[in-house]
Amino acid sequence: MLKKIPTQSLRVGMYVDKFCGSWLQHPFWSKKLLIEDVRTLNTILQSSIAEVIIDVSKGLDVEVAAQPDMPTSADAPSEVEIAVAEVEAASASGSAPSERVVRASMADEVRRAQQIFRNGKQAIQDLFKDVRLGNAITTDGLHDLVSEMSLSLSRNPHALISVARIKSKDEYTYLHSVAVAALMVGMARLLKMPEDQVMEAGMAGLLHDMGKAVMPEAVLNKPGKLTDEEFAIMRSHPAEGHKLLLDWDGVPDAVLDVCLHHHEKVDGTGYPERLAGENISLLARMGAICDVYDAITSNRPYKAGWDPAESLSRMASWKGHFDPVLFKLFVRMLGIYPVGSLVRLESERLGVVVEQGTSSLLTPKVSVFYSVRLKQGLPVTLIDLADAHETDRIIGRESPEDWPFKQLDRLWLPD
Ligand code: C2E
Ligand code: SIN
Ligand code: SIN
Ligand code: FE
Repeated sequence: MLKKIPTQSLRVGMYVDKFCGSWLQHPFWSKKLLIEDVRTLNTILQSSIAEVIIDVSKGLDVEVAAQPDMPTSADAPSEVEIAVAEVEAASASGSAPSERVVRASMADEVRRAQQIFRNGKQAIQDLFKDVRLGNAITTDGLHDLVSEMSLSLSRNPHALISVARIKSKDEYTYLHSVAVAALMVGMARLLKMPEDQVMEAGMAGLLHDMGKAVMPEAVLNKPGKLTDEEFAIMRSHPAEGHKLLLDWDGVPDAVLDVCLHHHEKVDGTGYPERLAGENISLLARMGAICDVYDAITSNRPYKAGWDPAESLSRMASWKGHFDPVLFKLFVRMLGIYPVGSLVRLESERLGVVVEQGTSSLLTPKVSVFYSVRLKQGLPVTLIDLADAHETDRIIGRESPEDWPFKQLDRLWLPD
């Protein structure tokens, strides 16, 4: 008998029939195997796989009592799981869900998205300034900003979320809020949330880190690692932000909640309240994913951003932090190789993903610019891996730190 279980429930002695989610790379994806030792078990646990199918006629069964107290796909499917399954089914059948209809070219929509981020940065910067000066606060303008984001995503689902990552280290704090808003609006739309909830998702993104406005700037912008005392101060930013927002007019409860709980983790080890699983609201679980992805892919005062595909792969391996079903949706939204990722092709050429494919997450458009074999640059060539005549394919991602290339995003951003 086959059973789908969360990877954390795997034990030595179980027989794995299938590793679910072979959309991220891992060593065992096509194998069936009996887990004979702890080393094999650990390799699987440290991988990006969230779920496996075990065959309990060939190996040990799960002990129900030993199940962690966490929502899993083995339970009755939640609304979120159903929505994610619909997105998956639509992409598998080749009929792209209406959300994915592209009405504006990537290049055109990227320009509009850049304007949205310029406006957004100004709005958040003003808000931080008003908080620091103790001025009266109005959040009226933010609604228009979120509406613009939703419209941009309806014209092209990839432009806004790709531009979101682009920022310099000194504008991180402001643009991070706008970026998290864009990612949250994108997720909310994929989940087919009604318009008022899409608005709340966007507002939550814009306001989730308002507490940083009252953190000491020397700690916030410290160019190095924080001391324990400094990190203790930083960990007060969700509660401080929540306190601020409570005093403002018309901030929805859902937005207050995301502000307070965006650093909770589904395994209950987050802060400030150590909430677990579905005790963390849906929007806060979405917020945690969008927040961390944007943080680690961005240049910050203390750390250069990681490659987007590498970031997704790392996040997938952090067991217990994120809601696995929502994380899967997030990967669907960005692509396994998000725009800006450095990839290696079978032809031993390197390129940067410049646009998502319309049907498969594995066949984006790539700007090829380097030959590994010749160890030299090539004239930049755009190839569409979804084209039936294109025989080349992506064999993996590359870490930009291993290469001397600078400013890879120039390959897809307009000047
Ligand atoms: P942030 O920079 O916006 O990061 C948000 C969250 O992204 C972090 O929450 C953490 O969950 C995740 N994250 C960011 N960078 C990394 C990373 O390099 N590795 C991993 N595994 N996760 C990462 P967290 O840790 O609760 O931090 C909250 C805020 O505290 C951060 O917001 C940042 O403002 C500040 N902070 C944390 N660590 C440092 C640090 O070493 N130096 C400085 N200057 N600030 C830090
Ligand atoms: C986590 O954030 O969940 C774990 C981070 C890490 O392992 O670096
Ligand atoms: C090719 O076009 O496939 C050859 C690329 C290379 O120079 O390595
Ligand atoms: Fe935060």
